[in-house]
Amino acid sequence: MSAVLVTRRLPGASVARLAAHHDVDLHAGELPLSHEELHERLEGKAGVVVLLGGRIDRAAIDAAGPSLKIIANVAVGYDNLDVAYAASKGIVCTNTPDVLTDATADLTWALILGITRRLGEGERMLRAGAWKGWGFDFMLGSGLGGKLLGIVGGGRIGRAVAMRAAAFGMRVGVSSRRDPQWPGVEFLPLERLIPSADILSLHVPLTPETRHLVDRTALTRMKRSAYLINTTRGAVVDEGALAWALKEHLIAGAALDVYEREPEVHPDLLGLENVLLSPHLGSATRETRTAMADLAIDNVLAVLGGHPALTPIR
Ligand code: DGY
Repeated sequence: MSAVLVTRRLPGASVARLAAHHDVDLHAGELPLSHEELHERLEGKAGVVVLLGGRIDRAAIDAAGPSLKIIANVAVGYDNLDVAYAASKGIVCTNTPDVLTDATADLTWALILGITRRLGEGERMLRAGAWKGWGFDFMLGSGLGGKLLGIVGGGRIGRAVAMRAAAFGMRVGVSSRRDPQWPGVEFLPLERLIPSADILSLHVPLTPETRHLVDRTALTRMKRSAYLINTTRGAVVDEGALAWALKEHLIAGAALDVYEREPEVHPDLLGLENVLLSPHLGSATRETRTAMADLAIDNVLAVLGGHPALTPIR
């Protein structure tokens, strides 16, 4: 039996599976552990199951000490882990790819439809009692048929978003380091995708290279009629620059599920009608979250049992 820290609540059945083999220290509180609490509770652990809001950086790894063997992230994105430092200490890092691809792609489409058809704005007006009734030219949105969906990032989620586009009659272009060769999808450099996309949807991981990939310059190069969608990590977009571009109507709108300083949202965005905001719900279905928890636990059981991880981060 080894000691394993679980940094936030997970489905009971997943925790029970872990507890059948290991000594589980579960933080069941509503809010993430503070930096200090996290470091204290990591000391002497062989494994940590880390959820969004938990940062396992060099200091956290040092706080755990030489017993630490696995860091299992319950997310596909792993910008919260110092993977290189962990590897230098022989610690395995894992994430939860695949199981959340469809849920995140579905949410991306919910945002595309929601912003282009002005659902947030319409609901706010209706709840405020300001709706005066049906009107021929009332609250007109933008259709999708024949338009270009620009996907930034050639990974699994980008592909799943692209494959759903046929249902809405959209053309699709993708920009990534290499041509992912998706059927029916045109490979375009980012400099061409940005000014030609009608919907620009971001699906790159957050890295030093992708931080503020969408900045003032990129926003000024987008079509005035275009929409920006972000379901990856907030810091891929410069939120201040986006608020400015939306205020100036340099683009038609944006729909965001992720933010630079979650749970804070840039205050200027909150007052704008041409932005749809959801609270980081990309993978938030019961089925998907259960599968994510199970995969993370399976990774811990495998590594602490002396087997290779199922989904190691390489
Ligand atoms: C992920 O998996 O990276 C998501 O953002 C967590 O829901």
